Amino acid sequence: MLEILDIYKTFNPGTVNEKCALNGLSLTMDDGDFVTVIGGNGAGKSTLLNAIAGTWLVDEGKILIDGVDVTKLPEHKRAKYLGRVFQDPMTGTAASMGIEENLALAKRRGKSRTLKVGIRKSEREEYKELLKILDLGLEDRLTSKVGLLSGGQRQALTLLMATMQKPKLLLLDEHTAALDPKTAAKVLETTELMVKRNNLTTLMITHNMKDAILHGNRLIMLKDGKIILDIRGEEKKKLTVEDLLHKFEEASGEEFTNDSAILG
Ligand SMILES: Nc1ncnc2c1ncn2[C@@H]1O[C@H](COP(=O)(O)OP(=O)(O)OP(=O)(O)O)[C@@H](O)[C@H]1O
Ligand SMILES: [Mg+2]
Repeated sequence: MLEILDIYKTFNPGTVNEKCALNGLSLTMDDGDFVTVIGGNGAGKSTLLNAIAGTWLVDEGKILIDGVDVTKLPEHKRAKYLGRVFQDPMTGTAASMGIEENLALAKRRGKSRTLKVGIRKSEREEYKELLKILDLGLEDRLTSKVGLLSGGQRQALTLLMATMQKPKLLLLDEHTAALDPKTAAKVLETTELMVKRNNLTTLMITHNMKDAILHGNRLIMLKDGKIILDIRGEEKKKLTVEDLLHKFEEASGEEFTNDSAILG
């Protein structure tokens, strides 16, 4: 479903701020894979997701989504393959619009992105059914402005919007990091639900090692723009935080310094 072949990205080349953020990274994901991504600050995790989404073009290497070479495609031409959720609950939804309007816009993605024709009754029923899955009572607040929702509610809605078109790939960049632990757990539960329901291929960045271990069928660790650990199958199922710290130290020759990743 995703094939990344030896990609490189250097920011501000030739200046004092030159930074090699992706350094010959390769990653192949099968249909239905759920990969969690961990790594210290600046390891290149967000850069990897941006490279896939086409925020800018990579300097070298190839990116294929479901067999289509998207390496040279601009962001808007890749958007139809992708669903994305970011850390900030304020992004991803339109605050001044109602819940049903936001959902309708997500549904019309890739088509004429306008609500001029209005929202049909049948559509409204569909949204209600979808919102019920979240179990947040949003199905009874279809016309409420999204700006009035809590961060967790907004993030759950964003997830729904990002997945309702069944994207080839779901990209999650620390999408629960700004939420309190209970809400974060709930949004992660919703994530699992949407991924399973739509059989989505998913890449999820998290700072929380426990979450990285608990979710998905494969875990990768990034450092200096490269994958230094790739754990899957039975090994992934048996993995503990202690194992992971040990493996990190083995692979990198350094101690893991991010406390929140250990304690979170
Ligand atoms: N648009 C950009 N312009 C310049 N430098 C950038 C840009 N995006 C990322 N970088 C640099 O590339 C490196 C990797 O950044 P990235 O955001 O991918 O890290 P990360 O692994 O997501 O870290 P964090 O856990 O802090 O989110 C960093 O040194 C960062 O400063
Ligand atoms: Mg990041």
